[in-house]
Amino acid sequence: MNAVLSNTSQSIPSFVKHPALIAWVQEVAALTQPDQIFWCDGTQEEYDLLCAAMVKSGTLRRLNDAKRPNSYLAWSDPSDVARVEDRTYICSETPELAGPTNNWIAPAEMRGTLNGLFTGCMKGRTLYVVPFSMGPLGSPIAHIGVELSDSPYVAVNMRLMTRMGKAVYDVLGTDGEYVPCVHTVGKPLAAGEKDVSWPCNPTKYIVHFPETREIWSYGSGYGGNALLGKKCFALRIASTMGRDQGWLAEHMLILGVTSPEGKKHHIAAAFPSACGKTNFAMLIPPKSFAGWKVTTIGDDIAWIKPGADGRLYAINPEAGYFGVAPGTNDKTNSNCMASLKENVLFTNVALTDDGDVWWEGMTKEAPAHLIDWTGQDWTPDCGRKAAHPNARFTVAAAQNPVIDENWDNPEGVAIDAFIFGGRRSTTVPLVTQARDWVEGVYMAATMGSETTAAAAGQQGIVRRDPFAMLPFCGYNMSDYFNHWLELGKKLSASSAKLPGIFCVNWFRTDENGKFVWPGFGENMRVLKWMLERIEGKASGVDHVFGTSPSYADLSWDGLEFTQAQFDMITSIDKSAWITEFGLHEELFQKLSHHLPVQLKETKAKLEGRLAA
Ligand code: GTP
Ligand code: SPV
Ligand code: MN
Repeated sequence: MNAVLSNTSQSIPSFVKHPALIAWVQEVAALTQPDQIFWCDGTQEEYDLLCAAMVKSGTLRRLNDAKRPNSYLAWSDPSDVARVEDRTYICSETPELAGPTNNWIAPAEMRGTLNGLFTGCMKGRTLYVVPFSMGPLGSPIAHIGVELSDSPYVAVNMRLMTRMGKAVYDVLGTDGEYVPCVHTVGKPLAAGEKDVSWPCNPTKYIVHFPETREIWSYGSGYGGNALLGKKCFALRIASTMGRDQGWLAEHMLILGVTSPEGKKHHIAAAFPSACGKTNFAMLIPPKSFAGWKVTTIGDDIAWIKPGADGRLYAINPEAGYFGVAPGTNDKTNSNCMASLKENVLFTNVALTDDGDVWWEGMTKEAPAHLIDWTGQDWTPDCGRKAAHPNARFTVAAAQNPVIDENWDNPEGVAIDAFIFGGRRSTTVPLVTQARDWVEGVYMAATMGSETTAAAAGQQGIVRRDPFAMLPFCGYNMSDYFNHWLELGKKLSASSAKLPGIFCVNWFRTDENGKFVWPGFGENMRVLKWMLERIEGKASGVDHVFGTSPSYADLSWDGLEFTQAQFDMITSIDKSAWITEFGLHEELFQKLSHHLPVQLKETKAKLEGRLAA
C-alpha cells in the first residue's frame, strides 16, 4: 500500500517505471487537486485496508463473518443506481462516426466542459491509481488500462473485476500503451466537511474519445458508469479498436458445453443487460441431462479475434462478475449462489437481522424483517422492494464452481455458435436458427428487447437493441453491421466452418403475464438442439425467419411441458410480425447512413416470405 502526497514525486513507488504515465497522473492530479495520491498495488492487504477504511467512513458494512466471510455491503445514493445512457457520450471527430444511436458532442467542446467539471473535483479526497489488464496479463490479446479514481469503492471493485495491480506495471514497462481512464464521483470536500456514505453528483458525464482512446467519467460511483474497464473500455473503446484492427468486442457471455460423449462446443451469447447472460453462462443442466456439463468462460463481455485457421477465438477480458442479484437463488442458479459464499461485495441488496444479505427471489419466503437498500426497516407487507432491482454482486471469477479450464487461456476458445436473445413477452419465438451469416446478422441487428433496471429510465419498453450493443457500441451502428458482414465474408473464404447464428427468447408470457417457458437450467433443452443443428443432427421447421424446432425436435425428459404450451412460445403471429417489420424499418431509417444493402435485401426477402 502506498499512500503518498501528490507533490512528493520521490514517493512514487518503485514498481511504477513509466515516466509518461507518472506525468499523466501528475497532470490529472494538478487538474483535480486531490489531497493525496494512492498507487494501488492490487494486494489482498491493500484490498482489506481499503475495505476497512470504507467501513469506517460508512460506505461499506462488513457482513457477519460466520454467514458471509470477508464480504461487504454498500448502499448507493438512491439517485445513483444504474448506468446513465442519456449521459453517455461518444465524442468522435464527427457525429457520423458516433452514429445516430450514440450521444455526440464535438470533442473540443466536451473537453472544455470536462475541464471545468474536473477542476478541483477531487479536493479533500484521495486519487487512486488503478492499473489493470483486460485479459490475461501479458497476453497478446490483452489490453491495459489505468483508472484514476477518487472512489475507493471503485478501486476494490476493480481488483475483483480485472487483473489489477503491480504486475500490470511490469507488463507496461517504461513506455507500454494503456487506455487512460479518469473517474470522479464529482463531490469535492471543503476543509473539514464531513463526507457522505455514497458521494456522487446529480450532473453526470460518461465520456469516450475513441480516436485518442480516452475515458472521462464524472458524477457517478455505480457499476458501468464508474468501473471503467467494463463497458467504457472493454466495449465502447474496444469495439472501435476491433473495427480498426479486424476483431470484435461484444456484450456476450462465453460458455463451454460438453456432451456425455465428451464432445465440447463453445458458445457466445449476446443478451441485453439483465436478460440472462450470467445465468446462461453458469447453466446447470436438468437431471435428465445426465453427463452434460456447462462451464463458464465469461458472463458479460467477449473479445473475439479471427485465428489463422479461419475460426473465431474468444476471450473474456474480465476477471470477475458484476451480476444482477434479484432473481438469483439456489434453484435458478446454484452455481452463482455458490460463487457468492465469501469474499463478495454486494451493492444495494437488503441486510438481514443476522448480518447477511437478501434480495427479491433469493428465498421463497422473505425474512420477517430486513433493512432495505435505502437503510429503512422493511417487512414483507411494506409495499417496497428490499433490494434495488439493479442490485449487484461483485465477485472474482475464480470463485465460480463451474469456471472453464480455459477461461484464463490467452489463446481463447473457438466459437461454434452465436446466440442473440432479447426479452420479449410476445412475437419472438423460443429459438430460431438463421439460414446463413447474413440472415443471422439481420436477426441480431433488428433484435428488440424490453428495457430493464440495468439502465436508468423507464422499464419494460420494447426498443431495438442491435446485437445487445445499443448502449455499448463505440461507433456508428451501421458501420458495426458492416464490420460483422465483412468478417463473415472473410471467414467464409477460408476452409473453416462459420459459427451458427441463433436467436432466442426465454421471456414470452401468458395472458396473466407469467413466463411460459421455465427458463434457467431448462434452457439446456434449447442449447442441446442448437448443438445438434451445428452438427447437422437435429431436424427443424423452416419458416419465415429461419429454422425452429418442432415440439418433437426437443428433449422433454423430466419436464412437463405440453404441445399447447410449446405453441404459446413458438407461434408466429402474422400481424405481430408485420408490426415488427415496421419497427425494423424505423431502425433502418434511423441508421440509413452506411446501412449495409444486404440487410435491406434480407428484410425484403423475409417480408416477401411473410406475405406469401
Ligand atoms: P448484465 O449483467 O446486466 O449484462 O445482465 P445479464 O444478462 O448477465 O443478466 P442476468 O443473468 O444477471 O439476469 C438478470 C435477470 O434475468 C435475473 O433476474 C434472472 O433471474 C433473470 N433470468 C435469467 N435467466 C432467465 C431465464 O431463463 N428465464 C427467466 N424468466 N428469467 C431469467
Ligand atoms: C450491464 O448493464 O449490461 C451490466 C452492468 O453488465 S454495468 O456494469 O453497470 O454496465
Ligand atoms: Mn452487461
